[in-house]
Amino acid sequence: MTLDYIHRFVPARNQGEQLPTLLLLHGTGGNEEDLLGLGSQLLPGAALLSPRGKILENGMPRFFRRLAEGVFDVEDLQQRTEELADFILAASQEYHFDPARVIAAGFSNGANIAASMMLLRPDALYAAVLYHPMVPLIPDPLPDLTGVDIFITAGRNDPLIPVPETERLEQLLQQTGATVETHWSESGHSLSNSEFRSSKEWLERVLSAKKM
Ligand code: MLT
Repeated sequence: MTLDYIHRFVPARNQGEQLPTLLLLHGTGGNEEDLLGLGSQLLPGAALLSPRGKILENGMPRFFRRLAEGVFDVEDLQQRTEELADFILAASQEYHFDPARVIAAGFSNGANIAASMMLLRPDALYAAVLYHPMVPLIPDPLPDLTGVDIFITAGRNDPLIPVPETERLEQLLQQTGATVETHWSESGHSLSNSEFRSSKEWLERVLSAKKM
């Protein structure tokens, strides 16, 4: 296994606390630097692993191909999902973090591949914060995600993601047994301060319940 993504890794501070590692997944056109600031505030002291998506769409990095806006190349998505899950394992060996305690925080395209990873590689993540995600794919059979906590944020004025799309994802993830909480706001396709704050509060609750 190789570290075959351009990425940033920020080691954990407070080693004694044994915080989970945050996997940061940027949106279309972003890069591995984008969410480092968010990650360091979301879970201060945690190690941060932040890869850059390998696909280029008109020069803009993404984590998988799409055929049109909101229409995914599912075969590519499946392959990229496996690659990203393997990258987490390789990175855990290189940087000495526990691959069983990785929490994703992804925005848009990054949230979509995080959701895909939970659906196709159910052991890859044990919690996820999905800022403005869509339904990436629907595997048959569905995985068992009992014990996995997922926080979704969505905007009623998001031009890319209609309200029913978020509801469909919520229902899909609930069917897997995951515990899903959704934060609605009036926002568009962007990550607002209130979304960030609510995701941070959610994460604190989840981690104290998991006694991490
Ligand atoms: C995607 O392609 O993953 C979604 O359409 C969101 C985005 O624009 O990245």
